[in-house]
Amino acid sequence: MKIKNICCIGAGYVGGPTMAVIAQKCPHIKVTVVDINEARIAAWNDKDLSKLPVFEPGLDDIVKGARDRNLFFSTDVDKAIDEAEMIFISVNTPTKTYGKGKGMAADLKYIELCARQIARVSKTDKIVVEKSTLPVRTASAIKSILDNTGNHVQFQILSNPEFLAEGTAVPDLLNPDRVLIGGDTTPEGTKAVNALVEVYENWVPKAQILTTNVWSSELSKLTANAFLAQRVSSINAMSELCEKTGADVDEVAKAIGMDSRIGSKFLKASVGFGGSCFQKDILNLVYIAKSYGLNKVADYWEQVIIMNDHQKQRFSDNIVNTLYNTVSGKKITFLGWAFKKDTNDTRESAAIKVADNLLSEQANISVFDPKVVGERVYADLDYLKTRTTEENRRLLNVCKDPYQACNESHAIAVLTEWDEFVDYDWENIYKSMKKPAFVFDGRGILNQKTLEKIGFVYYKIGSGI
Ligand code: NAD
Ligand code: UGA
Repeated sequence: MKIKNICCIGAGYVGGPTMAVIAQKCPHIKVTVVDINEARIAAWNDKDLSKLPVFEPGLDDIVKGARDRNLFFSTDVDKAIDEAEMIFISVNTPTKTYGKGKGMAADLKYIELCARQIARVSKTDKIVVEKSTLPVRTASAIKSILDNTGNHVQFQILSNPEFLAEGTAVPDLLNPDRVLIGGDTTPEGTKAVNALVEVYENWVPKAQILTTNVWSSELSKLTANAFLAQRVSSINAMSELCEKTGADVDEVAKAIGMDSRIGSKFLKASVGFGGSCFQKDILNLVYIAKSYGLNKVADYWEQVIIMNDHQKQRFSDNIVNTLYNTVSGKKITFLGWAFKKDTNDTRESAAIKVADNLLSEQANISVFDPKVVGERVYADLDYLKTRTTEENRRLLNVCKDPYQACNESHAIAVLTEWDEFVDYDWENIYKSMKKPAFVFDGRGILNQKTLEKIGFVYYKIGSGI
């Protein structure tokens, strides 16, 4: 079966870039990305490519080449479902904020709404692809909804989790380590799997397209994120020990990373991992394990989150302790608000928690981030409901210029590893600051020797007694 028409429900950080790359690599397939969020769709259609709702290096060029040729963004969800042979579900699956599993389980209401809409609209057979990250066995719930429509339409459900990382979405999609496709082993299931394999074969070598049963595919996604987050928490745990012993965490990371069994990637100590997925997916894994009575398994993975929360807390505690046990009325500059460099995404960014802690100590914070807009920063803080929106605006100020953000500041905290921070004119920044001038490098990106020579008191996560 040759796919000619694809619909993707959800035009977010995954749906947008993923479908743009499919459209670029498969000019013979019409790809329509739909969303109920009208502003988001309008932004995807904006002639000014700097207004795309997702900032990813290289994405604007891909969208420019394919948009209105075979890539379309629309709010007409029914029409796109009706026309498509293959429908990707790429909607959000956040942690539940209510009811059973509150704070742990994935909220599947958006997934269920999509399944019901597909069931209602479809008049021809469809392949439904889970692109969102889902608890293992979700496909059976989707199937149950789709198979009970009474309209004789046949549905095949595939799991095709996405492994892209934000900031590198385009290269990750163009050259994936692997593409994972889970499907039924029945003849119809195999046919559906092959149809999706053929789509990817337009640019991904066949050896890197892995097919499994649906449950392995669903669980592999949660497992991959759990392992990745665990590496960050493991090196962060070591960073605290380094600070007590005089070891340097970057040297330790290099030394262990040269062991080919360990590998060198994903060993950068930080102020804590953020992003929309690591925490939510591990909490979901913990919830699933508990629901099967596997409490030891649940406790094991929960430690990854506990360590991450600790890392954020101790970073802000260290700032307060170092600044003579009070930051009340002092200006502290945040360089970076995004959860990592090269993205405008701030979901679960460590900066939010660190800022919240320092604001509770009555600090005045100035934030500069090259890609995050002021409203986003305030929305992140307001969401916590720790203080009123007026207070957040009174105590925290978002600057468009990094030098202005640092002017008259008592301390600078580096929260995101943006490359440009390294190249700033640190001599001038030093001159403009209150003395002693402190730098708390939560990403270990600045040159300690240079900064100390200028006169800064420099603290790097994972080094110094
Ligand atoms: P997102 O919030 O950026 O986008 C989801 C979009 O779905 C939103 O624009 C929302 O309006 C839309 N939506 C929700 N319900 C809808 C409905 N019924 N009809 C039409 N549109 C609807 O989320 P995201 O970051 O793209 O993540 C999507 C999924 O992919 C999640 O399950 C996530 O865990 C997974 N994932 C994310 C990443 C990442 O880097 N962000 C990577 C891999 C996997
Ligand atoms: C992560 C995974 O890397 C992707 O494979 C996955 O598809 C995605 O989650 C998802 O499911 O959403 P992402 O969160 O976009 O991607 O970015 P990462 O590069 O994994 O970084 C996550 C967080 O860990 C960031 O805050 C980053 O700064 C931090 N990190 C990462 C470290 O502190 N140290 C490291 O060595 C690596």
